[in-house]
Amino acid sequence: AKPDNFTLVIFGANSDLAARKLFPSICELALWGEMPEAFRVIGVGRSELSHEEFRSLVHEKLARFSPETVQDEAAFLKISRKLFYVRVDLEDVAGYHALHNELMDVSGERGICSNLLFYLATPPALAPVIVRNLESAGLGEKTVFCGGWRKIIVEKPYGRNLQTARELNRVIGEVFSEERVFRIDHYLGKETVQNIMVFRFSNGIFEPLWNRHYIANVSITIAEEFGIRDRGSFYEETGLLRDIMQNHALQLLAAVAMEPPVDFSADAVRDEKAKVLRSIRHFSSDSAETSVVLGQYEGYRSEKNVAADSKVETFAAVKFLIDNWRWKDVPFFVKAGKNLAETVTEIVITFKCPPQNFFGMADSCSYTANQVILRIQPEETIALRFGAKRPGEEVITDPVYMKFDYRTSFSDSGLTPYHRLLLDAMAGEQMNFIRQDSVEYSWAIIDSIREAIGGEEPSLYAVHSGGPDAAQRIYG
Ligand code: BG6
Repeated sequence: AKPDNFTLVIFGANSDLAARKLFPSICELALWGEMPEAFRVIGVGRSELSHEEFRSLVHEKLARFSPETVQDEAAFLKISRKLFYVRVDLEDVAGYHALHNELMDVSGERGICSNLLFYLATPPALAPVIVRNLESAGLGEKTVFCGGWRKIIVEKPYGRNLQTARELNRVIGEVFSEERVFRIDHYLGKETVQNIMVFRFSNGIFEPLWNRHYIANVSITIAEEFGIRDRGSFYEETGLLRDIMQNHALQLLAAVAMEPPVDFSADAVRDEKAKVLRSIRHFSSDSAETSVVLGQYEGYRSEKNVAADSKVETFAAVKFLIDNWRWKDVPFFVKAGKNLAETVTEIVITFKCPPQNFFGMADSCSYTANQVILRIQPEETIALRFGAKRPGEEVITDPVYMKFDYRTSFSDSGLTPYHRLLLDAMAGEQMNFIRQDSVEYSWAIIDSIREAIGGEEPSLYAVHSGGPDAAQRIYG
């Protein structure tokens, strides 16, 4: 079914995210006929722009990030007529009244004014300010009219620690009910991530083994071959623990470790994820010494907008333990970093060795490596790695793979995470958005790491390496 007619209001319309992801996704969905019959997009930003100037700006960005949408000028023109711009000084409520007027102005058009989706593509510190101002200008959920709806999408990072995340949850909670709040983590929009639950719970083969009796450890890697790009100021404020560990990495961990939900509904699934995050053991300075290694790539301090003596981490390796019935004592090794040897996100589940080693190998277990490997990206595959007898007279065991590849088994849907998540938010489907409790549990874990580490310098590592040598420590 088509989504309701609505207006999307993007705060941070001039942001990099809007240019790279939001406008391309919206315009592509419109081009493919996936948007509702009537919709409009109102860009909100600080600069003074007319609607026309804004449309040409969007055109420029699309030409770079989504050429498909501007190829046919007539088709683009149809979409671009739905784009509007309002200048708002985000800290000043006056601008929100102007936005209110703009929103009500075209109210005649088939109900698009009564359904409003706000998208906060702004730095985390601004989120509470924007929400309060929306409320003051009569744009909160309480002032809905004509049976319409108000929803809000909030980009990560959601706060910068437990305290700010709680405060943000509190402020948002005064203006929007939880069913209207969509905390986005684009990893949850990835096909391969959504498949983790299907892989685990639609098959009878794996789940009986999916626990501490059969699994030796789980390792999750989010490695990127590139550095911080031009996001020096952002990284100085954020660091890798906040940028990737608090959200993408812990969400992958939760998907692998969660219990089966009571049913396949948003809250049942999110209940189970929250329970896992709540069960992750926090760190003390003692445990952090053996379980946490932070790194910084060589040359980070000479990047633009980075302090010459910066201690910000661009790499983290953490051994997590989950204190629950299923996972007690099974280490979850999670590693993420910038400027590593290759770009790859994968989850490796390593099973325990067989009870006896008949085949005379020195290290039978790590060699045969009985593993399930969920490759999230760039290849989208699931592999089973097991030992097989090498042909010949002698009995020698070699590791071999059985592999499922999305490319050969399915045709590409063409949808990216932002397409999927925008469609979900329009439809009010919250399964792939982070609930209030989970966001707080995740921050509590990251805060405990930060506190345990104190002001320790991150270990340096060479660009395009595997990270600092010290990271080996967590496996010890
Ligand atoms: C973003 C982070 O959330 O995710 C970036 O801010 C990171 O630092 C990016 O590069 C990774 O996303 P993807 O989808 O390319 O793996």
